[in-house]
Amino acid sequence: MRHLLGLYRTSAEEIARILQCAADFKQQWIASPTTLPPVLQGKTVVLAFFENSTRTRTSFELAVRRLSGSALNFSAATSSLQKGETLLDTIANIEAMQVDAFVIRHGESGAAEIVAKHTRKIVINAGDGMHEHPTQALLDMFTLQETFGQLSGLRVLILGDILHSRVARSNIFGLQKMGARVSVCAPPTLLPVGIEHFGVQVFTRLQEALQACDAVIVLRLQLEREAAGFVPTLREYNTFFALTDEALAKVTHKVFVLHPGPVNREIELSSVVTDRDDTAGKSESLILKQVTNGVAVRMAVLSVLFGHTLP
Ligand code: NCD
Repeated sequence: MRHLLGLYRTSAEEIARILQCAADFKQQWIASPTTLPPVLQGKTVVLAFFENSTRTRTSFELAVRRLSGSALNFSAATSSLQKGETLLDTIANIEAMQVDAFVIRHGESGAAEIVAKHTRKIVINAGDGMHEHPTQALLDMFTLQETFGQLSGLRVLILGDILHSRVARSNIFGLQKMGARVSVCAPPTLLPVGIEHFGVQVFTRLQEALQACDAVIVLRLQLEREAAGFVPTLREYNTFFALTDEALAKVTHKVFVLHPGPVNREIELSSVVTDRDDTAGKSESLILKQVTNGVAVRMAVLSVLFGHTLP
């Protein structure tokens, strides 16, 4: 592996290698945070975020630091992009300062791939438009594997704004490669045209979808991508598609709940379900576990791309 641009072209073997490496890192990191191997010593990783982020950026920064590398934060808002410099010129100039890798988030689908074609450095896609967000899907898969023991045969529902979601695409590709059965549920206007060609089961009724899954990945309604225009009103969306205790009431088994964050509380997910992390409940939120696991998964991705497979 030279870059991580998406899971569409990542093999099941590569995904399994990253998940195994993340498990080893997590064990070491929780047991003794000061003895992690310095696999990024002397390396500089540029965090080039052209779109907002809380979890992904900080989690990459922590992952780089924990492995003894330097993380350089590049802020698009205060850069010469504002004076009209192009994305590729910006990258070429930072590359000329002898950095080693770029972690890129950008509003345009395909941006990470374009950068990868124009640099000799490692490129990791941290979310490109409506295309892919591979490290988010890897940390979702890691969390599911940790919870259920294996991904093979697991029934995973992706609920919400599938149309605008790079998280949905990466999870569909990754989970299916690892043998999970993926279904989606959304109003028809928030499903991409041709979704059936992705090999997923499509539900438009939440009750049926929930009854047929072991875990649900709830997605944020992407209001900055005009998602509100695809549903009659946010209130109607909430009534029919939000994950709430009312929606879970008739489900006859326990459902595990994931969300990539940020959560729009009381739009796609109720606060009660978001915060319920007790193991005895009807549903159990894995949302903060996902965030913890994100650091281990990003350590694993960096380590594999820099050529060190095992800690
Ligand atoms: C996701 C993203 O940015 O694509 N968030 C994240 O990386 N944790 C999902 C979202 O913004 O809804």
